[in-house]
Amino acid sequence: MAHLLHIDSSARSSGSATRRLSAQYAEAWQARNPGGTVTYRDVTADVPNLVDEHWVRGVFGPSEIHDTESRAAVTASEELIAEVEAADVLALGVPVYNFSVPAAFKAWIDKICMAGRTFSYTSEGVRGLLGGKKVVVLRSSGSDFSDPRFASLEFHEPYIRGVLGFLGITDVEFISVNGQTEEQLAPHFEKATAAITNSVGAIA
Ligand SMILES: Cc1cc2nc3c(=O)[nH]c(=O)nc-3n(C[C@H](O)[C@H](O)[C@H](O)COP(=O)(O)O)c2cc1C
Repeated sequence: MAHLLHIDSSARSSGSATRRLSAQYAEAWQARNPGGTVTYRDVTADVPNLVDEHWVRGVFGPSEIHDTESRAAVTASEELIAEVEAADVLALGVPVYNFSVPAAFKAWIDKICMAGRTFSYTSEGVRGLLGGKKVVVLRSSGSDFSDPRFASLEFHEPYIRGVLGFLGITDVEFISVNGQTEEQLAPHFEKATAAITNSVGAIA
């Protein structure tokens, strides 16, 4: 049975463009996959703990130095990783904050990047272990990053593509809107709606 992991990371609980787009994606996906299931996670309402001493000890330290805190930190990561592993498709609502991703989204990324678990070091280099999934990033920004004046500040898409690729996920699609007013955003929403329909329709 097909499974979708739907994640939001906007700080805004209302009026958010990315929440609107990701909800639209999830609804279209559900209509296309009536027997499919969805897991929803709001990483802003429930921010994953930042990487801390306990987590580093639990993930990188030898078992002799593991303790209650380090085991709990690893278990929390495992829960997030299991949600990704269970999904065929991930719909990620990710606004542009200060030219990159919101800190809450980065906290989630930091928890699913676990050496020996979601990527491994081999003699041929790093191998991502989360392959075979499709990711759709629903993105919103105030500025238009296709404007050459902003090109050097575009860290959002390259970062997301880079880190997901590192984990073995290379089928990544961006559906973006930009603007600072409803009026500016409106034509982008129209195109995004068509892109969502196409994207969901293209999934086998
Ligand atoms: C903290 C913060 C930082 C932002 N940084 C940028 C930025 O660097 N570049 C940009 O174009 N827009 C930036 N914006 C505008 C947001 O990307 C834009 O309002 C987007 O629609 C927010 O997503 P949301 O509508 O899902 O909340 C920022 C907004 C906030 C709240």
